Amino acid sequence: MSVAALLLSVNVDHVATLRQARHVDYPDPVEAAAVAEAAGASGITIHLRGDRRHIQDSDLERLGAAVRGKLNLEMAASEEMIAIACRARPHQVTLVPERPEELTTEGGLDVSSQLPRLLAGAERLRAAGIEVSLFVDPDPKRIDALAPFSGGLASGIELNTDAYTRAVGGFAASRRAEVARSADMGAAMGFRIYAGHGLTAANVGGIAAIRRIEELNIGHALISRAVILGLAGAVREMLQAMGTARDASRAAAAGPSTTG
Ligand code: PXP
Repeated sequence: MSVAALLLSVNVDHVATLRQARHVDYPDPVEAAAVAEAAGASGITIHLRGDRRHIQDSDLERLGAAVRGKLNLEMAASEEMIAIACRARPHQVTLVPERPEELTTEGGLDVSSQLPRLLAGAERLRAAGIEVSLFVDPDPKRIDALAPFSGGLASGIELNTDAYTRAVGGFAASRRAEVARSADMGAAMGFRIYAGHGLTAANVGGIAAIRRIEELNIGHALISRAVILGLAGAVREMLQAMGTARDASRAAAAGPSTTG
């Protein structure tokens, strides 16, 4: 049996977090997206939050023009966000729950409690030609509740791996089994299966081995690792700039050169 390759969508939110910490124009998530795609990412994910704490509306617009693979926009199913998405038309929108005070997305959607609003939002996105995915916890009840979206309204679901990534010892195996079972259930309902949240190079193996999963969505650990892996090059670049300026000022202090 052939097993399809597992794709990686790189979430560049935290490149924008660094930029917004100083309200400057670097680092640029669009530049980061190009680096990630050149390194093999199948696409780019961003979360446009109501409070605009990292990604800005202009980033969405620029990424829409720059990303070569799939641009996946995570957002709440609010009136404001649906209107923005329908104008920007990313390839895919992943609907997520959003609480203003949360540090990061805290769990999957409770679809049953807000079904009419989510269905209406998904219908508008589909009408604009945007693929819809729903971020859900790997819980059979939550997967069953997605039935109204099967048959084309949502093309995929993203399974929340947060509980798996936080589990210790033997609990990780049972958390992983929940993800695998939910992946089977979702696939049987006709959804493409994605997964993400909290994944690192150290814990990704258990999830990457689940063959139903097509694509992983990873952000924080990748951007964190990039800071460490990239720091040596950045220090060398800075020392070079400092040295060049100091050499020039030394030469100026020494006066006009007498050698031809
Ligand atoms: N999937 C969803 C729905 C998310 O909200 C996030 C965080 O923005 C991720 C995946 C990526 O999580 P992490 O940054 O922990 O890799």
